[in-house]
Amino acid sequence: MSRLRLGVNIDHVATLRNARGVDYPSPVRAAELAMAAGCDGITAHLREDRRHISDADIEALTDITRKRGVPLNFEMAVTAEMESIALRNLPHAACLVPERREEVTTEGGLDLLGGFDRIAPVVQRLAGEGIRVSCFIDADPAQAAAARRAGAQVVELHTGAYCDAVRERSLEAPALLERLKIAAFESTRLGLEVHAGHGIDFETVKPIAAIPQVTELNIGHFLVGEAVFIGLAQAIHRMRLLMDEARAEASA
Ligand code: PXP
Repeated sequence: MSRLRLGVNIDHVATLRNARGVDYPSPVRAAELAMAAGCDGITAHLREDRRHISDADIEALTDITRKRGVPLNFEMAVTAEMESIALRNLPHAACLVPERREEVTTEGGLDLLGGFDRIAPVVQRLAGEGIRVSCFIDADPAQAAAARRAGAQVVELHTGAYCDAVRERSLEAPALLERLKIAAFESTRLGLEVHAGHGIDFETVKPIAAIPQVTELNIGHFLVGEAVFIGLAQAIHRMRLLMDEARAEASA
């Protein structure tokens, strides 16, 4: 089984900074620490309302990740503004997400079936500039097939529903995990690379990391929260350890 990469999302360091309207804590410093702790990528979401990451953060993150040779994954809504920012900064990867101003976080996957004609040209223009394009989708093989038709190289499966179900001790959790497994299998069959993310914590990471087709996890909110108690490096090390354990157990 391939080694599973860990992308660390540092958005919520910026949430904390912005709550005070000052310039600390710095998401760029968090990215430096995450890279030093051995993460495989940095993820940041520049939202339309700039509630956490700012334009200047994106420029600084582009700069430091490039210097360190660590991939930057730019999460973005499918808008002309975000497209031009992506094309200006040329991150290693762009993950297209649905975005509604009133949502607290990204609530569902991108609807590639409903929005194909709007999304596919953006995928193609970004990919044409050498950006690795990923579509954030619900665990639905039909959405994966549409992402493939649009020209995406990667799908990121939305793990939020499964992670919420585990936390709420819902009986739905096993079925939701099964849907993720099927979507991962079908996406790989279509020739897509499979990533996963949203809501992952120390409890939910192992079942997700054990899905053999998944090659990257993107984790943010829990790691930043845990950093308050044990430090960011320690939180990343523990997450990495659990990911490695899950992979080893799944291939034993
Ligand atoms: N992947 C995508 C596409 C996301 O939108 C988010 C949230 O910004 C994450 C991963 C990380 O989710 P969380 O912060 O819940 O770990």
